[in-house]
Amino acid sequence: KEFKDKVAVITGAASGIGRGLAERCAQEGMKVVLADIEEPALLQTQTELQATGAKVLAVRTDVAKASDVEALARKTLDTFGATHLLFNNAGIGTGTSIWKSTLADWEWIIGVNLWGVIHGLRTFVPIMLAQDTEGHIVNTASIAGLTTGHSPYSVTKHAVVALSEQLYHSLAHLNAKVKASVLCPGFVKTQIMDSERNRPVELQNKTARPLTPEEEAMVQYIRQGVQAGMSPQQAADHVFQAIREERFYILTHPELKAAVHMRLEDIMQLRNPSNPFQS
Ligand code: NAI
Repeated sequence: KEFKDKVAVITGAASGIGRGLAERCAQEGMKVVLADIEEPALLQTQTELQATGAKVLAVRTDVAKASDVEALARKTLDTFGATHLLFNNAGIGTGTSIWKSTLADWEWIIGVNLWGVIHGLRTFVPIMLAQDTEGHIVNTASIAGLTTGHSPYSVTKHAVVALSEQLYHSLAHLNAKVKASVLCPGFVKTQIMDSERNRPVELQNKTARPLTPEEEAMVQYIRQGVQAGMSPQQAADHVFQAIREERFYILTHPELKAAVHMRLEDIMQLRNPSNPFQS
């Protein structure tokens, strides 16, 4: 596949996996559109990528807002005239149990992790189809979107997997030149555990309470996993390999297939849900 001089749009591009994808797109010679809610990090990423010689547009975007994503598309077309790769990647982590997560927690996480991807698809798919050129869309879900539900986060990620599968079928039905993949990473070393830095003021968690010891243990487990995780550059390698192969499911950590299998076996055997965190 030829990426040179094509246009890539990446949400959540100022940090972590999105930043890794942006760097990789620039290395491939692409024009890069960076979208992120965190403006200083966004502008810094723009400056650093431009220093490598890449053509870069940075657009402050809250993916939870349809109007922001529509403005992102307009600016992309005004500046670079097309979109060939779309990475619906922005995401956050928050919340604990179903009834102890606040309404603000639920609204925030569904807004960014699910509505963000819906807005991206509703806005960009018609543009990409109308171009009648090769293109590829990658939605970032998580391995948590394929394993048994255990958090508001996994609720949103299961939804992104379902959304991506529907996208795949719809594009295949049209015999479109635009392809789709869903990225389901295990732990990647990013700032995901500091997602609170980007929580909008209107969704501040007014009734935040101390975590229970079990919740605290889970947060610590995830924090350590993320710290010891794969680099965003490695995650981007997996993504580009899948785009080249036109492969839909992108798993960065093959050893986690066992937890996916456990859920499927529970369903096949009509067994109650197993807990992959209990060994
Ligand atoms: P990160 O926190 O390093 O990067 C996320 C980026 O999204 C940040 O730059 C942040 O400012 C931006 N963002 C947050 N809210 C936004 C909004 N409303 N609109 C636009 N941008 C927004 O975290 P990471 O890990 O790179 O996250 C990227 C994606 O990868 C997320 O969808 C996450 O759920 C997913 N993921 C991460 C894993 C990990 O271990 N780090 C594992 C599995 C999935």
